Parts: sequence; structure tokens; C-alpha cells
Amino acid sequence: MEFRIKKILPNLEGEIEYKQKKYSAPFVVPGDIVHFKIKRFGRKTKLIVTDIIKQDISLDYVIPPKCKHFGECGGCKAQHLNYSYQWYLKTNELKNLYLNSFLIAIKEIPSVNIFHYRNRMDFLVSDDCVGLRKPHRFDEFVDIEYCHIQKEEANIILNIFRNIIKKYKNLGYNRKTNTGVIKYITIRIGIDGMIIFTLLKDYDKQEDLKILYNNFIDEFINNIKQLESRINYSFSVKECYVDEKAEISNVSNGKIVYNHSYLKIPFGELVFNVPADGFFQPNPEIISKMLDNAIEDFLKHKQNEKYQLIDLYCGAGILSIYLTRKLNQSILTSVMGIEIIESAIELAKKNFEYFFGDQIPYNFITADLNKIKEIPINNTSILILDPPRSGLHPKIIEWIINTPQIKWIFYLSCNPPKQYEEMQKIKSIFDVESIIFGDPFPHTSHWESLILLKRKV
Ligand SMILES: C[S@@+](CC[C@H](N)C(=O)[O-])C[C@H]1O[C@@H](n2cnc3c(N)ncnc32)[C@H](O)[C@@H]1O
Repeated sequence: MEFRIKKILPNLEGEIEYKQKKYSAPFVVPGDIVHFKIKRFGRKTKLIVTDIIKQDISLDYVIPPKCKHFGECGGCKAQHLNYSYQWYLKTNELKNLYLNSFLIAIKEIPSVNIFHYRNRMDFLVSDDCVGLRKPHRFDEFVDIEYCHIQKEEANIILNIFRNIIKKYKNLGYNRKTNTGVIKYITIRIGIDGMIIFTLLKDYDKQEDLKILYNNFIDEFINNIKQLESRINYSFSVKECYVDEKAEISNVSNGKIVYNHSYLKIPFGELVFNVPADGFFQPNPEIISKMLDNAIEDFLKHKQNEKYQLIDLYCGAGILSIYLTRKLNQSILTSVMGIEIIESAIELAKKNFEYFFGDQIPYNFITADLNKIKEIPINNTSILILDPPRSGLHPKIIEWIINTPQIKWIFYLSCNPPKQYEEMQKIKSIFDVESIIFGDPFPHTSHWESLILLKRKV
């Protein structure tokens, strides 16, 4: 089958219509002819691109991609489109919907640094390939020599690792024979860096692999020490362990093999201690700017009341800590966060204690917000929402609507179309004070939206 692309969708892929069903194909522009087949997976169908015939049409927004792996690697979707056009495609549909339904101008924070913005990348190791998966393919990998969206320090590490692993033939994990040791390398860059190797559990029961890995890690750490003195930057190294079948990197077990168990990552003017396996915003610069904008709008309103600050889906408490610091602390009576992951809650407590000691009462609770019976709220409140891509659970929406103590909401979403749907349910109860669209993820289809809401009186 073939289809000539007419339109690029907000997911930065070309739209394909086949038998009244809509699909999309990556790396194309209008005019390209896509050859494809449709594969059935249970009740779902998936479009598989078999070939793309490029047309010699000049479009002013089409540019040469910077990365030589672009078009093969599943990491970036749109290096072939100039950045302002990418941003337009991602946001325009939703911008118009908001303009029509809320009659409010949207503030936009596209990325200034469109390359080298990510503070974390997880590369798969397979024999001596160190790379990323192909788009929509779980078992096909691209060997990545240099990644333009990760920080420069991370590319130096990738290169050091690649050169060393080539010498240790049996260490890279082979997913067909289930042999080898190293399954992933995760590289995190903040004020200092952290490198995490995800290894096959119990590999060290085989003496030859144990000796091989020990020699490898000694050589790797020696190289890191030399690099540290050359670039005046410090790294830590950790290893963790997963089963044969597990395709997950940087899990919370394991041990530190060099330096510390934490790295330091800035968020606005605050610096957080982040454990090797702890979640942190991959591009904190944009998220902190978005928050600054919303906080500025919030502070334009005279605040006579005192508030409890409630952070739902709080992770390690980064957003509530940032807001506590930025809002005049004297307007907050207490801070509470709820999150499903216990280790994140432990960290939130430590982080809060580190920044505020006993200046303000706080409580971070481990709970599943899809099942929670009651959210403890005792006072006039400001709510922070930052749910996963699936959005807010309907019961949480109901609770927000029916809890008059909630006066303000800072709602950050990594799935803006879903957030728009949810806004339809609460717009009769809350006024939209500001809408901020931000782009922490250039060249990908992801972006974030932050909405400041005020309960109607
Ligand atoms: C987008 S992250 C936000 C993290 C945090 N606000 C930050 O900036 O670091 C979403 C968070 O929701 C948590 N989460 C997912 N499902 C949840 C649930 N059912 N109940 C509570 N927390 C949940 C995840 O563990 C994750 O930490």
C-alpha cells in the first residue's frame, strides 16, 4: 500500500488515512510517498512503514537534520523540521481550542537550547552496540555514536564507554542468547554526573564473567578519574541488577562503585540532591521558567489568606519545594505531598527538611491517588497537580470540584490534550488565570502545559 503525505500531525508524524482509519508515519514531510503494511496486534492494528519515497519539493521549514542517526533512531522525531515549525505543529491545534473556549492569551516558552538539553539518557547495550531503539521497534537498536540532545559531558562518557566495551567482547548483553553482563548505561548530568550500569543479576556466579567485568570497571573508573581532572567535573558510578527478561534500566537496588550515591541537579536557583535512581525533570530549565511565570501571575492577586499547599503526584517534592521558596512563605501554613512511590516520598521528606528545616510544617504521604479514600485537607488550599500521562483520575477531578477549600491550582501536564479534556469538566468551577505552554523536549512530540486556576467566587 502507499499514501502521499498531505499533513504533519501534532505528534510530528505524517498523517495516513487507510480504510477510514488514521495512522501516522515518522520522518516524513508533505509530498513524500509512504509505502506501508498494516499489522494486526490482537484487536489493534499498527502501520509499519516499509519505504519512504522522498519528493524533490522545497519546503521552507524543512532543514537538514543535525544528527547522523536521525531517521533511524527512535529518540528524535523532527530534526528535519525547523524548530519554530516543530513548536507550531505541537501546540497550534490546542492553542486555538484554548483561545476559543477560554478567550485568554497563551504564554509560550519554547526552548532556547534546542540541543544538549537533556540531563539524562538511558542507552541500551547489546554486544558492542550502545544505543537506542528504532522507532516503534522493541528489538531493533541503533548504535549511537553521538547524541545531540544529551549534555556534552554525557557524550564524552558515551564515547569512553564505547571504546572500552569494544575490548571486552562478552560483556555487552546479547538479547537473543541471553549472555553477557551489561544491559544498559544511564548517564545523568547535573552540577556533577552519575553513570549507572544495569547488569544481569547474578552474572558474578560465572567466574570468567566476574573477572571480565571487574577488569572492565577498573579500566572504566580509571578513565573517569583522568577525565575528571581534565574537564574539572566530578562523576559517580553505580551498578544495579535486573533479571534476564527485564528491559528496565537504573533500578533502585545495587551499589555505588565510585564516589557518591547522589548527584546534584539545579532547578531554578535551588540545587537538589538526587539519588542515582530518583526521578528528576529531564529539562528543569524550562519547567522552572514555566512555574516562574505562573507564580508571577498568582502573586499579582493580593493574597490576604493563608494556605495549605497540597502537591498531588509529588514525586520527590520538587514542585512544592520550589513553590514554597517562591511564594511568600508567610502565606503558607503547611505543605503536604502525595505520591505512589515510597522511595520518592522518603526523598521528598529529606529534601523538604534540607531546604526548610522546621520553618514550616510538612507531611509527605505514600498513597495511590486512584484508590485513596480521603485526601486530608483542613484549610484554604493551593493545589499542585503534576499527574502522569494518563492524567487525573476521575475521582480526583470530582474531589477538586467538590472541595471548596481548594482556591488555587497550579496544574502542570505532560499530556496537554488530556489536560484540555479535563479542563472542560472544571471550567465552570474555576477561572483560568494563565496558560503557559513550554517545550522541555525539542525534536520530540512531547511538551508541557501549565495552567493556573482560581476558584470562582
Ligand atoms: C510527572 S511525574 C511528577 C513528579 C514531580 N511532580 C516532579 O516534578 O518531580 C508524575 C508522578 O506521579 C506519580 N504517580 C503515578 N501514578 C500515581 C498514582 N496513582 N498515585 C500517586 N502518584 C502517582 C509518579 O510516580 C510520578 O512521580
